[in-house]
Amino acid sequence: MKAWRVHMNGEPREVMRLEEIPDPEPGAGEVLVRVRAAAVNFPDALLCRGEYQIKPPFPFTPGVELCGEVLAVGEGTAEGDAPEPGSRVIAQPALPMGGFAERTLVTAASIREAPEALDDAEAAALHIGYQTGWFGLHRRARIQSGETLLVHAAAGGVGSAAVQLGKAAGARVIGVVGGKAKADAARELGCDVVVDRREDDIVAAVKEATGGRGADVIYDPVGGDAYAKSVKCVAFEGRIVVVGFASGAVPTPGLNHALIKNYSILGLHWGLYNTKDPAAVQSCHEELTALAAQGAVKPYISERLTLDGGAEAVQRVFDGITTGRVVIQP
Ligand SMILES: NC(=O)c1ccc[n+]([C@@H]2O[C@H](COP(=O)([O-])OP(=O)(O)OC[C@H]3O[C@@H](n4cnc5c(N)ncnc54)[C@H](OP(=O)(O)O)[C@@H]3O)[C@@H](O)[C@H]2O)c1
Repeated sequence: MKAWRVHMNGEPREVMRLEEIPDPEPGAGEVLVRVRAAAVNFPDALLCRGEYQIKPPFPFTPGVELCGEVLAVGEGTAEGDAPEPGSRVIAQPALPMGGFAERTLVTAASIREAPEALDDAEAAALHIGYQTGWFGLHRRARIQSGETLLVHAAAGGVGSAAVQLGKAAGARVIGVVGGKAKADAARELGCDVVVDRREDDIVAAVKEATGGRGADVIYDPVGGDAYAKSVKCVAFEGRIVVVGFASGAVPTPGLNHALIKNYSILGLHWGLYNTKDPAAVQSCHEELTALAAQGAVKPYISERLTLDGGAEAVQRVFDGITTGRVVIQP
């Protein structure tokens, strides 16, 4: 079968190689799936560059979420964790065997029923970005209907999910994006106000849109300058959710400033909920499935590529020039 593999760290387009390898064998707690669709995430590029918190042994295959068809369950897998062969599921691959391959291994515990309302590419993208958005907005920031939510990189993968989830929660959503095409996408996604960070003054625009109050909840997958702007336009008792550092710059918050302005800085590492509170991850999946059935959320898939396009796609996501999710369909 064909699989993208990384033998050394570096830029994705330089170190990802499309190779012919034998089918992987599922061990206990693992399931072999045919990959129907695998969404590209920013961490795929970080994995290639050796900058992610997980460092799989070489050679590894990137691809951290997928929609697939169950082919075989590893011997010794707990009965409750064993899905029916042939079922259409979403799951997280068992690195070093990731999702950018014709077939791969996923952890049995991560398997969930793929929502019927979504096609394969959309289902693949409903997991990490939407779970992160849901836990960030509801569990960490306790967003309330009627509040104002500011989303940085609002047309990106994680950002577009937060925009839709914010609207579904009854918030007024301000989306910050880089460039005109992304501004159009953010409007399509449902942002009430769109700010182009390349053209507009973010702080002034947020203050104007909120009558000077600022945003109640700020969802930040970017860090760097986005964080610096956030603290200048966060409302009294506002909450800044630290989601990621796509800009490459990890901010150093001034705690005196948080004290003086009465705002909270909330860290979010969604993956931890899989071990700390797996029941909450499952109930979030059920809620996301229901929201998808109602049409309240629908992953924005900007590109559907064959396996050949894998390395370029990971590179472009890292370079910040994609919108929504790019999905590989082997
Ligand atoms: N905390 C968690 O549990 C968790 C879970 C999943 C993902 N994440 C993190 O969330 C972030 C977003 O992931 P994603 O897959 O959804 O990626 P993405 O948002 O689709 O891509 C990153 C976006 O960041 C913006 N950006 C601003 N400055 C940038 C720069 N210097 N270089 C590149 N991009 C820049 C760009 O949008 P604009 O040009 O529109 O600003 C770009 O499209 C990543 O840092 C990822 O690691 C965290």
